[in-house]
Amino acid sequence: MGHSTEKSKGTVCVTGATGFVASWLIKCLLQDGYRVRGAVRDPENYEKAAHLWALSGAKERLQLVKGDLLVEGSYDAAVAGCEGVFHTAAALVRIKSDPKAEMLDPTILGTLNVLHSCAKSTTLKRVVLTSSTAAVRFRDDLEQPGAVTYLDEYSWSSIFFCTKYQIWYSLAKILSEQEAWKFAFLHSIDLVVVLPSFVIGPCLPYPLSKTAQDICDLLNGGRNFGIHGRMGYVHVDDVARAHILVYETPSAQGRYICSAQEATPQELVQYLADRYPHLQISTKFNDELPKMPYYKLNTTKLQRLGLNCKPLDVMFDDCISFLEEKGLLKRKPEKTPTSSSTPDEHSKDSVLQNV
Ligand SMILES: NC(=O)c1ccc[n+]([C@@H]2O[C@H](COP(=O)([O-])OP(=O)(O)OC[C@H]3O[C@@H](n4cnc5c(N)ncnc54)[C@H](OP(=O)(O)O)[C@@H]3O)[C@@H](O)[C@H]2O)c1
Repeated sequence: MGHSTEKSKGTVCVTGATGFVASWLIKCLLQDGYRVRGAVRDPENYEKAAHLWALSGAKERLQLVKGDLLVEGSYDAAVAGCEGVFHTAAALVRIKSDPKAEMLDPTILGTLNVLHSCAKSTTLKRVVLTSSTAAVRFRDDLEQPGAVTYLDEYSWSSIFFCTKYQIWYSLAKILSEQEAWKFAFLHSIDLVVVLPSFVIGPCLPYPLSKTAQDICDLLNGGRNFGIHGRMGYVHVDDVARAHILVYETPSAQGRYICSAQEATPQELVQYLADRYPHLQISTKFNDELPKMPYYKLNTTKLQRLGLNCKPLDVMFDDCISFLEEKGLLKRKPEKTPTSSSTPDEHSKDSVLQNV
């Protein structure tokens, strides 16, 4: 239902508007009464933005304008007159040949490009940047076997480690966030950063975004998910709500990790296979999984601001209902139920205790 549409909360810009996170964020912003200017590469492509135009309040309060991360000055018009900017656009792509051109430049130079437009604005109050726990968790100092390392907003992934192991996405997120902090300091921009872990939930854009497709593949028996290693997971609705919360809370400052629960790939697939026995989830992986460091994300900073993230069962229930509605999930062939094929509550709990 949302808030009254008569009381507009002001105009905000969302970059990468057709993306997975941005689309849900726009849905929440419209619900809350904001006017939203979405920056997209091709505003004429109605098909790509059809899910945005279908949102409640979109016809009255959504505008799509052009913005390309790699075209200097192209966010000037999108940002002009806005009180807030949510910069979510980034190149989340499968790299074909050139990590710099395909991922690092659009993400790092693109962030600076958006911030240059922000620096020109006379109406802007706050910029919220979407970083990632990928900018926190890839480090070479976590490898004490058996120990748990707690990571928080003071933690940064290691540039050396990510370069050495060619973890390009992490490198892009570390460097874009660090450049953003420097630029904001030099130009007196009020910047707050949200660092989501792996985002789960209904994916409004279609075709599915890269990470939503990875989850869809996993739920359909894919065995490649192990490469992601131990990760945190978070509901897309909580990610959107975290962005709005840090935007609206005057005292919010710095970085905010946004994550509900961590799991190793083995813990995750076992949990999913137990909870959704009708799906063809495989508990095996194609490659032997490397021994990954064991860390936990400290999320108290965001909790203190008032957001308690939904647990794993809610995020996957919502994600799976959505994918099933779209007809994107394969069911196991029907067979007569036996006592051993029903999910075992005890084993479910014991897996979750490790998560
Ligand atoms: N999904 C996750 O699990 C996750 C986790 C942590 C952090 N994040 C962060 O959340 C943000 C959004 O991620 P997402 O999963 O929503 O990704 P997504 O669905 O791929 O959306 C990214 C958006 O960025 C836009 N974009 C890419 N290259 C561009 C360019 N050169 N110029 C302008 N726009 C460009 C894309 O626009 P087009 O539609 O024009 O291609 C797309 O709409 C990113 O910053 C990501 O790093 C995501």
